[in-house]
Amino acid sequence: MTDSEAEPGRCEVYSPLMSGGLIYLDNAATSWPKPPQVGAAIADFLAHKAGNPGRGGHRLARAAGDVVEQARERLAAEINAPCSKRMILTHGCTDAVNLAVHGVLRAAQRACCERKPHVVVSGIEHNAILRTVHCYQNDGHITMDIVPCDAQGVVSAEAVAAVCRDDTVLVCVAHASNAAGTIQDAAGIAKAVRAKAPDALFMVDAAQTVGHLKVDVQAIGIDLLAIAGHKGLLGPTGTGGLYVSEKAYPETGDSRVFCQRRGGTGMKSVGLDMPTELPDALEAGTSNACGFAGLIAAMDARDPGAHEREMEHTARMLYELRGMPGVTVHGLPGVENRTPVVLFSIEGQHPRAVGDVLDADHGICVRGGTHCAPLLHQLIGTGDDGAVRVSPGWKTTGGEVERFLEAVRSLAASPARSP
Ligand code: ALA
Repeated sequence: MTDSEAEPGRCEVYSPLMSGGLIYLDNAATSWPKPPQVGAAIADFLAHKAGNPGRGGHRLARAAGDVVEQARERLAAEINAPCSKRMILTHGCTDAVNLAVHGVLRAAQRACCERKPHVVVSGIEHNAILRTVHCYQNDGHITMDIVPCDAQGVVSAEAVAAVCRDDTVLVCVAHASNAAGTIQDAAGIAKAVRAKAPDALFMVDAAQTVGHLKVDVQAIGIDLLAIAGHKGLLGPTGTGGLYVSEKAYPETGDSRVFCQRRGGTGMKSVGLDMPTELPDALEAGTSNACGFAGLIAAMDARDPGAHEREMEHTARMLYELRGMPGVTVHGLPGVENRTPVVLFSIEGQHPRAVGDVLDADHGICVRGGTHCAPLLHQLIGTGDDGAVRVSPGWKTTGGEVERFLEAVRSLAASPARSP
């Protein structure tokens, strides 16, 4: 590869599939295509900067370290964190959720309270949170309340506060449902939790919102915020972050996040204890610096008009799908308080079969099933089979939306299908 080929922005043809008629409407799973600058930045990193960040003082290690610190600063600024060291770089949102949930519950156990720590989660949560919390409940280490959402996927702040107690250590709410797209009133929930259980840490899974909405951790009152780099921010998979507030990890005094993962951080190597300073205390092992180079480029390349276009496509899909015989749209009625996601079912057709046919016969990528959010489907009435999720992205065109709608119309008029 020559230097000019590795320059960001020089990667013109990004994927042959893009000219092959593929219609990608699964951006809630991961955004695609990525801006061409992402691949170019990764190539540039591998060619010119691919030392081990923070390990060693040579030029490649320094260059990789600069990339990692730049990514930290960019993510911290994105969510208005008070300082970048409170942004822990992770391998994705699930990794961030695991770091937070295990960290808080292990710290609570180590504090040796008489009572088992109490945790509150909402019914819209992704398995990243549900399964991580469940393993503590299953082993008898915590008590737990699940706050249901209503039929449109809305979680009430009053209902969350109602189950909070003086021994509640952690309250987890997804900022938006990954399956139904319903955005929660995170600030209202944070306020209600603070009033009822001032010591509890408020954690938000922002996998579906950062990059789409302005998320301000200080204004909302969030203690732990889990971020995905590969969804709304348009970065590569394997990138993400966890914001950790002063309340969760005080500058001085006891941390409320205990990191089980131990290892090298590049500093204080002679001691067998982990450093206590952020971000190193929570960041053992070599960072995905290559991925973070791509994430920075993705954030630089973002189109400020993209979200508005995505919501226009969402409105069009909502309107047309609602009018189709045999099609049921789930969740909120309109685009208000919604991410660019529409969840629907076709009578007599298994959602996974719908996804398979849209892909095989029409070249359209959507996701059918339960989307790793099993409680939500029980609560909104889509049961064990789930539903079909369609999620436009920054490159989706009006013509692609019409082709998708035409394909669903023809499917709805065809015989029943099993998975
Ligand atoms: N969490 C991702 C989704 O919602 C994978 O599809």
